[in-house]
Amino acid sequence: MKKSLKKYVLTTILLCSVLQILPAENRPRITIIATGGTIAGISSSPTEASYDPARLSVEVLMEQVPALNDVAQINGFQLCNVASQHMTTAIWIRLASVIDSLFSNGQCDGIVVTHGTDTMEETAFFLDLVLPHQNPVILTGAMRPSNGLGADGPANLFNAVCLAADSAAHGRGVMAVMNDYIFAAAEFTKTHTVNPQAFESPDHGPIGVIRGGKPVFFRSPRPVHTVHSRFSIRQLQQIVLPRVEVVLSYAGASSIPVEALIENGVEGIVVAGVGHGNYSLDIEKSIDRAVRCGVFVVRGSRVLRGGVTFGVESLSDSQIVSGFLSPQKARILLMLALTRYNTVEQVGELFGRYR
Ligand code: SIN
Repeated sequence: MKKSLKKYVLTTILLCSVLQILPAENRPRITIIATGGTIAGISSSPTEASYDPARLSVEVLMEQVPALNDVAQINGFQLCNVASQHMTTAIWIRLASVIDSLFSNGQCDGIVVTHGTDTMEETAFFLDLVLPHQNPVILTGAMRPSNGLGADGPANLFNAVCLAADSAAHGRGVMAVMNDYIFAAAEFTKTHTVNPQAFESPDHGPIGVIRGGKPVFFRSPRPVHTVHSRFSIRQLQQIVLPRVEVVLSYAGASSIPVEALIENGVEGIVVAGVGHGNYSLDIEKSIDRAVRCGVFVVRGSRVLRGGVTFGVESLSDSQIVSGFLSPQKARILLMLALTRYNTVEQVGELFGRYR
């Protein structure tokens, strides 16, 4: 080998080891599955507050962050392009099926899902419950559109890819990365409508942070996720998920929503109650009727912290408590529960394990 070439090779090896950059072919294979949201949004000017979400393709998102290629071998897959208030259970099933087949066929080592922030926590929790894999699945998004001043999407995407590519992310269930924090799917929720610091795990705190592309974990998430879950996307292929709705209680809440749901043949109702899962007298009466009609009822709370556990006022044997799950997450668990179980005891036992 010529002296100059030898020097070049040695310098490259030294630089790669200092910067912890792997040769391209040895980098983990990460697939970015794009679903839309503000991360793919465009506003008419960088200072304009309003914008159109879900406009950019996955290829453009990837081009905006060339450094992704220093971390991983990147592939893009456009699953859909929607604002996440339009997310549906049908899209969830398609998303989970695509992830399942990518991992099962050995086509990638980790997955990043770009997603609107409004329902990111719901999609993350659904995936956490149905994906039978230990490989990292990381959700991320943005609070500011791609061309907004101080757009947060590129940094969030970079962090998510770094996390998905890191061996420390293996076996921790589905996670989300937003604004340098790492959250466990079951625990996090959106707590700000517009600020880039928009997510928290109110009862548990984040499970880690990511700095300079390196994750630092403070703790493990609760253990019932992915390979430890009782549900699998493979059993949900031909199934329309049971209809479960959420009803909010407040001072003077009437029986109208619950009565309408009974008339519409809903299979489950989660009450986002006040305080420790309480609700108005009118809701109480209509919920009693719902139970007599065979509707499964879970009592949750609209309050951010504390959950709904034992010692709930006037809790009947035919009701289940949400534990530390938010009403929107309790709804997902109840939908899945009703694909398998048909007694209150079975569903109650399940909630006891997952809360
Ligand atoms: C959405 O959830 O799609 C819009 C809001 C966002 O992504 O921040």
